[in-house]
Amino acid sequence: MLAELIRKSKHAIVFTGAGMSTESGLPDFRSANSGLWGQENPSEVASTEALNKNVEQFFRFYRHRVLGVQDCMPHAGHFILAEWERKGLIQGIITQNVDGFHTEAGTINSMELHGTIQRVHCQTCGKVFGSNRYTEEQFYCPCGGTLRPSVVLFGEMLPEDTFSKAIEETEKCELFIVLGSSLTVSPANQFPLLAKEQGAKLVIVNREPTIMDGYADLVIHEKNIGEVLSETNQKLRNGL
Ligand code: APR
Repeated sequence: MLAELIRKSKHAIVFTGAGMSTESGLPDFRSANSGLWGQENPSEVASTEALNKNVEQFFRFYRHRVLGVQDCMPHAGHFILAEWERKGLIQGIITQNVDGFHTEAGTINSMELHGTIQRVHCQTCGKVFGSNRYTEEQFYCPCGGTLRPSVVLFGEMLPEDTFSKAIEETEKCELFIVLGSSLTVSPANQFPLLAKEQGAKLVIVNREPTIMDGYADLVIHEKNIGEVLSETNQKLRNGL
């Protein structure tokens, strides 16, 4: 069914959340037992308030995440999505993930709604550095300002140019495929609705039910993303 929908669509967009990277070894946020927000309170470690009032805890949390991303790598599913883009089967990926794994796997049109943890920048002068500053526990800029990951923190606006590009792609797509998101965080979770409202087919691949399953034309809960992508890729290759 998913292979059929991809083959039929002239403009397909994939939308990924943290569930796309759990098979790379990175925890997601809301899975029971393993999700990050089960161990940490996002407002205390991933918000502008945390950056200004709890900076030591902020540094500890993000250094841990930077180290985690450096220890992991894209899995076969990321590479399959990059192959589908090269073959013109999909036209881009809108991602909430900050691990940079879509780009690392070769995807060209990766729209990082929540920024990236691969870079840090100075709160004062804006200078950009690699995230190894955090692994080396260098949390301050030569200018004296605080260095912070170039991710969107709770309480911050999403990057405007990326956001409008994602809207443009969603408005013209015929197929919108959600991979591994609980679809609970706005405004990112508005994209599946926008796609559906303009007439696209909506597919949701997620281990747990999401609040948007009722709008979807196809929902897959029983298989992991990696399995769905490799099976679908096989069907597309066999022309089935
Ligand atoms: N296959 C299929 N589904 C999976 C897999 C997998 N291998 N691994 C996890 N999932 C599902 C989980 O069941 C969960 O519902 O992926 C979903 C991930 O949801 P969240 O943890 O809420 O992650 P996400 O939706 O990306 O969170 C959105 O919240 O904290 C903020 O900025 C953060 O970008 C993040 C945003």
